[in-house]
Amino acid sequence: MKEELEQIMARYPQPRSAIMPMLHLVQSYEGYVSDAGVELVAELLGLTIAQVRGVSTFYTQYRQHPAGKHHIGVCATALCAVLGGDAVYAAVSEKLGIKADETTADGLFSLERIECNAACDFAPVMMINWEFMDNMTPEKAVAILDDLAAGKPVQPERGATLTSWKENERVLAGFYDGRADEGVSAGVSSLRSTPKGGKK
Ligand code: FES
Repeated sequence: MKEELEQIMARYPQPRSAIMPMLHLVQSYEGYVSDAGVELVAELLGLTIAQVRGVSTFYTQYRQHPAGKHHIGVCATALCAVLGGDAVYAAVSEKLGIKADETTADGLFSLERIECNAACDFAPVMMINWEFMDNMTPEKAVAILDDLAAGKPVQPERGATLTSWKENERVLAGFYDGRADEGVSAGVSSLRSTPKGGKK
């Protein structure tokens, strides 16, 4: 991990500018922002542990305890919530037997209530490993969890076929996985105001 953290630092004129992708890399190795990861980032950047922890606890994309192989986020902000997000969250929580910020005993799933994903035109939105699962319903959510548990491929409405939370964290750290063009990048709802109205 140290060698790759140094590679990230080398991309920036000011090494401390690399702190956010470095924390994503820590998550890709550890599944969360571990104490050891924070200490290493602080040492490499010449910062205090408190300064690095300050960043990792300010942004909700950083986890303070291990995520499951698949990290499920259900949007709990008003628009998604009233359009069915609360029901989706309840169904996922019941199916997995965990509440927000918990991880299943087998380490396969973790759950989080997340704030607006700027995808309100697809409400209610669920995210898996930061990929969008649009226009979600409780029934669709449970079926997706069944497929993931069975190891079947799951395709988000927009984006690449799901891998794992750790693998996506590595991409967020800036290590390209070659799949940026896989899947649809913009949905019809987002394109309605464009000249073609979302039609190809
Ligand atoms: S309120 Fe859920 S994506 Fe905006």
